[in-house]
Amino acid sequence: MTAPRVAVLGAMACMAVPCLTACAAAPPPGTSSESAERDIAALHTSKCGSCHTAPAPRTRTREHLEDAFARHKKRVRLSGEEWAELTDYLALPEGKTARQP
Ligand code: HEC
Repeated sequence: MTAPRVAVLGAMACMAVPCLTACAAAPPPGTSSESAERDIAALHTSKCGSCHTAPAPRTRTREHLEDAFARHKKRVRLSGEEWAELTDYLALPEGKTARQP
């Protein structure tokens, strides 16, 4: 007489699965952007320091970075999205361009 027990376990497993997938699909908003920033920081450290000192975040204007990155597409293999995130990560905040490198 093991059938009823199996049915109960099966029902419990079915109830657990939607919770797991819902949790994985919808992380809290803050968490995902923080981990994206960590990823881009790691990429910056690992890919950008081999030929020259990796430029520090918020020390270059967005135009300067876009100009430099146009020449970097052949030097470093990153996706378009990674270049965009890297530009956001490194660029001076808008309106604070007193320092023109
Ligand atoms: C294969 C070698 C190489 C790698 C890897 C590399 N660079 Fe460069 N980078 C250069 C050279 C050479 C110059 C100078 C000529 C120029 O500006 O294109 C330069 C210049 C720059 C400049 C403009 C000068 C300055 O200091 O503001 C920036 C910004 C820059 N790199 C950012 C990066 C970033 C961010 C990465 C990582 C995605 C990176 N580089 C990876 C070779 C490289």
